[in-house]
Amino acid sequence: MSNRKILVTNALPFANGPIHVGHLLGYVQADIWVRFQRMRGNEVAYVCADDTHGTAIMLRAEKEGITPEELINRVNGEHRRDFAGFHVDFDIYYTTHSDENRELANLIYSRLRDADKIAERSITQLYDPEKEMFLADRFIKGECPKCGAADQYGDNCESCSSTYDATDLKNPYSTISGATPVKKESTHFFFKLPEFTDMLKEWTRSGVLVPQVANKLAEWLDAGLQEWDISRDAPYFGFEIPGAPEKYFYVWLDAPIGYMASFKKLCDTHGELNFDDFWSANAPTELYHFIGKDIINFHALFWPAMLETAGFKKPDLISVNGFLTVNGQKMSKSRGTFIMAETYLQHLNPEYLRYYFAAKLGNTPEDLDLNLDDFVQRVNSDMVGKVVNLASRSAGFISKNFGGNLGDNLEVPELLKEFSDAGEEIAELYEAREFSKAIRLIMSLADKANQYIADKEPWVIAKENPEDPQVQSICATGINLFRVLVVYLKPILPELASKVESFLKIEPLSWQDAQQVLTNHTIDKFKPLMTRVETDKVEQMVEASKESLMTSETETPAAPESNSPTGKDPVSPEIEFPDFAKVDLRIVKIINAEHVEGADKLLKLTLSLGPDDEGNDIQRTVFSGIKSAYNPEQLVGMHTVMVANLKPRKMKFGLSDGMILASGDGSKVFLLEPHEGAAPGTRVT
Ligand code: 2FM
Ligand code: ZN
Repeated sequence: MSNRKILVTNALPFANGPIHVGHLLGYVQADIWVRFQRMRGNEVAYVCADDTHGTAIMLRAEKEGITPEELINRVNGEHRRDFAGFHVDFDIYYTTHSDENRELANLIYSRLRDADKIAERSITQLYDPEKEMFLADRFIKGECPKCGAADQYGDNCESCSSTYDATDLKNPYSTISGATPVKKESTHFFFKLPEFTDMLKEWTRSGVLVPQVANKLAEWLDAGLQEWDISRDAPYFGFEIPGAPEKYFYVWLDAPIGYMASFKKLCDTHGELNFDDFWSANAPTELYHFIGKDIINFHALFWPAMLETAGFKKPDLISVNGFLTVNGQKMSKSRGTFIMAETYLQHLNPEYLRYYFAAKLGNTPEDLDLNLDDFVQRVNSDMVGKVVNLASRSAGFISKNFGGNLGDNLEVPELLKEFSDAGEEIAELYEAREFSKAIRLIMSLADKANQYIADKEPWVIAKENPEDPQVQSICATGINLFRVLVVYLKPILPELASKVESFLKIEPLSWQDAQQVLTNHTIDKFKPLMTRVETDKVEQMVEASKESLMTSETETPAAPESNSPTGKDPVSPEIEFPDFAKVDLRIVKIINAEHVEGADKLLKLTLSLGPDDEGNDIQRTVFSGIKSAYNPEQLVGMHTVMVANLKPRKMKFGLSDGMILASGDGSKVFLLEPHEGAAPGTRVT
């Protein structure tokens, strides 16, 4: 068998939030492929790391009141734990904030410069004078320059779909501070990507991508590439550009270099691996990147162009997966389908999900739906009903009646041969990342094996004579068929395979073992290998994934009417703490306030709850009856407290999504204001 040497990478997750099931799809896919290659005898280095730089991480750390280094160290531990929990077994899980990465980023950049592929010019961008930083498009909102819709992001309008420059927005504001941005010039560095158009047109059609992805790239290539801005101004968490103080590499410049840097680190700790064997321009090894469809441009345009210029090897294959939906829809915190890896693991066996993903994965970037009912049904019927049951039906007789010995012959060696012969076809499907097709084939074999046992009815023969050698040879056949199925499923179900190896008392299974027959061998007593998925565990997981901030369906009771002749409300009846805890109170910043045409008492407020994990500002629109006491201008910039989980109310003038807290009797109104320093988004308890 040829012995290939393959470097496999997974996209590096950003270090500002937890791993969720949507992430896991691509990691499970790559891990299965890697395990398959290893079972075939190929040498694989499988690397990943956290993607640690950029504005979102900087702001996230600031919000948590810690340094970016503290944040990325903590998240690194969480990510390692989550991947290990799903048996995603990297040889190294590193960080892009490393010396290796800084050195390689500097090296590659210097080679791009020396090759005259870097342009330098001044550009005008929006700048937040309060926060003293330039604003990326997603941190700016304002009115659409075309249709006037309010609260549109800096690059396109969700209302009329037009695209524009952030500087064209009307009444723009910074989603970070609420300040009005000003225009400011600064020097940026650009990678001259258009010069690579011909190379990329050819390379993207060289078999490195499936046609669907190559076609998408062709659209961009035909439309004409733009120069790529690879620099960012301070403040920025990243690597400062050599010779350009206060300028940093854009996170996407050093992120893919993180693949090389992680591998370098692996080489430094594993003497037998050599960096140049895998990265020099004509290295005979293979380089595989597994990524999601949202980052194709970075990997199939910028990255090969950078590698070529810097004298390194370009990828041999880029495997692209689609997005994950849950129950047919985008993952949602309110529906409890935004499921974190950690939450999943608290309720369910990771191999259920590995199996379900594999059963639906092909090699094209199609979206994949995790339908939770189908998940339960599929895992129970295939893994438990067809695979594990096969062993339990055969093993009982072998251990009870034959002391665990399989005897020296199988009842139908031809059936085992048929199973062994399927090995190459299944291997080809794994190789091509056609996992769902592989599973279809494996399950059709499982059906045959179960049919065989059902037809032979060893229990009927055993009733007559428990020690009838036919019972032994039928069950030994069953165990052998089961063992071959486990070989084929091992890349997907490593934990199950390891339990089977100890139950059968055999060495770790390799692909070749599907060609062997196991006779004259004593196996252990059968222990349950995998239990059924329990529906209530799935329900508990969904329940645990519901987040109170966005979600609570419970409407808080209206305050009791005052009947008191003194005008002072008596204290309301006592409530239990859990009742109070249902009310999700949050600090918010008022970033916009305006009069509402035709309304006597109401002001329309836009409230900021601070950035979410992607750095997007979480905002709410609330109508509040405080017009008698406040001018809109007075309110902008103020902090107050809102009931964040109040069911949105339809009002005459629009939807009010929450409520802010004020005291007063209608004639005098006083907004509650937290003590200085309370950050938007923090919970009031
Ligand atoms: O999209 C993302 O999550 C990026 N952090 C992926 C980076 S992949 C590679 F380029 F580092
Ligand atoms: Zn518009």
